[in-house]
Amino acid sequence: MSISFSDEVNEEIITTTASLPEDSNEGSLRPRTLSEYIGQKKAKENLAIFINAARMRGESLDHVLLHGPPGLGKTTLAAVIANEMGVNMRITSGPAIEKPGDLVAMLTNLNEGDILFVDEIHRLNRAYEEILYPAMEDYAIDIILGKGPSANSIHLDLPHFTLIGATTRSGQLTAPLRDRFGVSLRLELYTPEELQRIVMRSAGILNVQIVPEGAYEIASRSRGTPRIANRLLRRVRDYAQVMADGTITKEIADRALLNLEVDKLGLDALDRRMLRSIIEFYGGGPVGLDTLAATINEEAVTLEDVYEPYLLQCGFLTRTPRGRCVTQKAYQHLGLEYLGQQQLEL
Ligand code: ADE
Repeated sequence: MSISFSDEVNEEIITTTASLPEDSNEGSLRPRTLSEYIGQKKAKENLAIFINAARMRGESLDHVLLHGPPGLGKTTLAAVIANEMGVNMRITSGPAIEKPGDLVAMLTNLNEGDILFVDEIHRLNRAYEEILYPAMEDYAIDIILGKGPSANSIHLDLPHFTLIGATTRSGQLTAPLRDRFGVSLRLELYTPEELQRIVMRSAGILNVQIVPEGAYEIASRSRGTPRIANRLLRRVRDYAQVMADGTITKEIADRALLNLEVDKLGLDALDRRMLRSIIEFYGGGPVGLDTLAATINEEAVTLEDVYEPYLLQCGFLTRTPRGRCVTQKAYQHLGLEYLGQQQLEL
């Protein structure tokens, strides 16, 4: 199997879900088979059936849409699917496709059964989506050459390929594109126990001495996200090597993460700013997402896609029809006194 990667955005916060340059050796930690892939039980069970069925029929796998918060292993899972199907995977992303020719070139270069992985597929130019419709449905594209009355169209047959689209915002896909995916799987944030298994597995691959309690400490501060867990593991390994005997214990992990300003639950400065703003300016809520985003000078989609899922999982935030509310548990975590939900004077 050959896999080609394109670059991803980054942001210099240790607990960011975006891929950082230091994650570039993430590759060695990626599981290669479904049985090595930890967590996402439901998605895995479904995929195992679809993959087996396609293999038994000797056909390509139906097109798959993977959606969910960033950093949960959508690319990893796509590579696992390619490996299990015994095919190659080409990787691109919605914003990287700058002209229709980029997409046509990728499609026409595929071999029978290959996987085309399109990350951030919701950011694909709407006008180019129409190339994908016949490609996904009939494995063919029509290319128009020239303009006006002399324009000619060429019909090109494509190999039977599988499109795997990944998105943090399935709601932003157009209905015609969404409907062409035979399989749609939602990836969920990982539990601390699942992340603990991922950290133990990664430590084994990286030859790091770690005890299960040390792995759990890292896991429970990784925002439900394997990418963050693996990144924190490397930083804690450095700390253990320089400040102790190299073994990651619960105490060493705690001290290292405190040093990195990763709090007990892995909240970062923006999580705290979001919760504090709702408390200080809106009496704990409810406050509309756009209003909140303007207050803390962040984009509403970033709050919704990157920050909210973990705060909801922690039980620090609730979504109500009238807006977001901070819970009593969040007040306690921030060390603030809870006076009950306050009604704001209108
Ligand atoms: N590394 C990153 N994600 C993983 C997963 N889901 N299972 C095992 N190792 C991983």
